[in-house]
Amino acid sequence: MRIAVGADHAGYRLKQRLVRVLEEEGHQIDDRGTFSEDSVDYPDFAAAVASEVASGDAELGLLVCGTGIGVGIAANKVDGIRAATCNDLFTARKSREHNDANILTVGSRVVGSGLAEDIVRTFFATDFEAGRHQRRVGKIHLLE
Ligand code: RB5
Repeated sequence: MRIAVGADHAGYRLKQRLVRVLEEEGHQIDDRGTFSEDSVDYPDFAAAVASEVASGDAELGLLVCGTGIGVGIAANKVDGIRAATCNDLFTARKSREHNDANILTVGSRVVGSGLAEDIVRTFFATDFEAGRHQRRVGKIHLLE
């Protein structure tokens, strides 16, 4: 799967680690930055990843900031994006099964790196259940 990835300075180190995990799982990664711990603005990286997913150039996306919240709020401003902030395994799985989330956001200051790796493995290995959830996701699109 082609996955677009991005982070701000707070998420940079964890992003590097999660990119390695995704590559080990066989995914093709498009890393949209940031590439150091120098201070940057998280909406810039959320926009880059969200537009790539919305256009279909990437199937899914991953964003990391301090909490996962800022990048999630920003990404959800882009039509077609359903970004889910998941700092636990249950929501990582359910956001795919029920919400067809197409971007995972994680907080580097919230979860340890081991849990973050498991969250990423879970999210990208879980499929949308469709069925009754398809109608509900369709109603989300009507809000755009
Ligand atoms: C950066 O200090 C921090 O505000 C950012 O990483 C994120 O947590 C915002 O939601």
